[in-house]
Amino acid sequence: MHILAIGGSNSANSINRQLAQFAASLFENSTVTIYDLSKIDIPLFSVQLENEIGMQPAARYFANEIDQSDLIVISLAENNGSYNAGFKNLIDWTSRLKDRKVWNDKPMLLMATSPGGRGGATVLETAVAYFPRMGADIKGSFTLPKFYENFDPIEGIIDQELLHELETVVRKIGDK
Ligand SMILES: Cc1cc2nc3c(=O)[nH]c(=O)nc-3n(C[C@H](O)[C@H](O)[C@H](O)COP(=O)(O)O)c2cc1C
Repeated sequence: MHILAIGGSNSANSINRQLAQFAASLFENSTVTIYDLSKIDIPLFSVQLENEIGMQPAARYFANEIDQSDLIVISLAENNGSYNAGFKNLIDWTSRLKDRKVWNDKPMLLMATSPGGRGGATVLETAVAYFPRMGADIKGSFTLPKFYENFDPIEGIIDQELLHELETVVRKIGDK
């Protein structure tokens, strides 16, 4: 199984990319591509700009990465209760590719984390409700609250209850 692990943030040190990478590593017999949104070069979408300069290679590349995957493992940053602007911009561009649902009916593990106690629960709720309309086949979801208390950069999730919760979701998806 090939996994595309995405941090839904254009921050170079994205905690959501760290969580996505860790969650992807829990799947057995898998290869993983980590998608780093902080490294992509794409302007702010507008219909006028799209008419002027056309579809952006970065959006085509992202769509291709989705198409090459068997499972998407994504963790969303929450900025003011909603999607990170860099992530939303990429989604807007990708949604303009002809005849495309952004997530192309791929199975998805959908997550969020933040330093706060709600762990990005608001953006997660938004995505759980809307991503299926963009072709996501959501197989499971997970939030990690208080990232800096519950996650170690080398060990991954260190809170045993939260780790067990994520492992249970991963096992369910892996067994399908
Ligand atoms: C502009 C801005 C708005 C934010 N809004 C929220 C928020 O609504 N809820 C939340 O839990 N954290 C919020 N945060 C804190 C982020 O969760 C934190 O920066 C986290 O590291 C973002 O994930 P990332 O590292 O993957 O980008 C905000 C941060 C910024 C810079």
